[in-house]
Amino acid sequence: MRKVLVCGAGGFIGGHLVKKLKKEGAWARGVDIKQLEFANSPADEFIIGDLTRQNVVEKVLDQPFDEVYQLVADMGGAGYIFTGKNDANLMHNSATINLNIIQQAVERLMNSDFEGPVNIGSEEMISLNDLAKMVIAISGKKLSIYNKPVSYEGVRGRRSDNRLIQEKLGPL
Ligand SMILES: NC(=O)c1ccc[n+]([C@@H]2O[C@H](COP(=O)([O-])OP(=O)(O)OC[C@H]3O[C@@H](n4cnc5c(N)ncnc54)[C@H](O)[C@@H]3O)[C@@H](O)[C@H]2O)c1
Repeated sequence: MRKVLVCGAGGFIGGHLVKKLKKEGAWARGVDIKQLEFANSPADEFIIGDLTRQNVVEKVLDQPFDEVYQLVADMGGAGYIFTGKNDANLMHNSATINLNIIQQAVERLMNSDFEGPVNIGSEEMISLNDLAKMVIAISGKKLSIYNKPVSYEGVRGRRSDNRLIQEKLGPL
């Protein structure tokens, strides 16, 4: 049986990835510093632990795996940008679009012979307001956008440079 390890299985991408891998019939071990929120993880084993600790890594990698997914991150992204009930809808819709793209890209990458780090994100740059407008249009809901003043400023923008993956795996 295909044996997979998902680091960051308590997070957004890792949580959904475990669900997908289980549907595909894999045996999955999840690991995270916290449980998956809002649902029980379908992982066959879920280890709670801090992966910056060597003893946790040794415990988690006590056997060979066919696939290892590293999705642990200290993000502080979307959760900081969106607040409130409608914003939660927006976040859910935009995150779901993103998730589908990420899952397809990860699957293609795992099924390829390519080894090494590679970007698999979108090359498109879009403002948060334009993204919000797009998601509202897709949802068909009547929502307005409120730009909440913030006292801090994070990364102004970033996008993926996909030249390497296109060279190795063909057009995305
Ligand atoms: N969410 C997106 O739309 C998106 C898009 C492109 C790329 N990514 C990348 O995918 C990765 C995962 O993103 P996400 O949205 O699932 O983030 P997330 O914050 O939901 O998940 C990250 C998980 O890592 C866990 N974690 C953090 N430190 C840990 C530690 N020391 N030990 C064990 N677990 C630890 C957190 O508890 C969390 O559950 C990130 O590298 C992110 O940049 C995400």
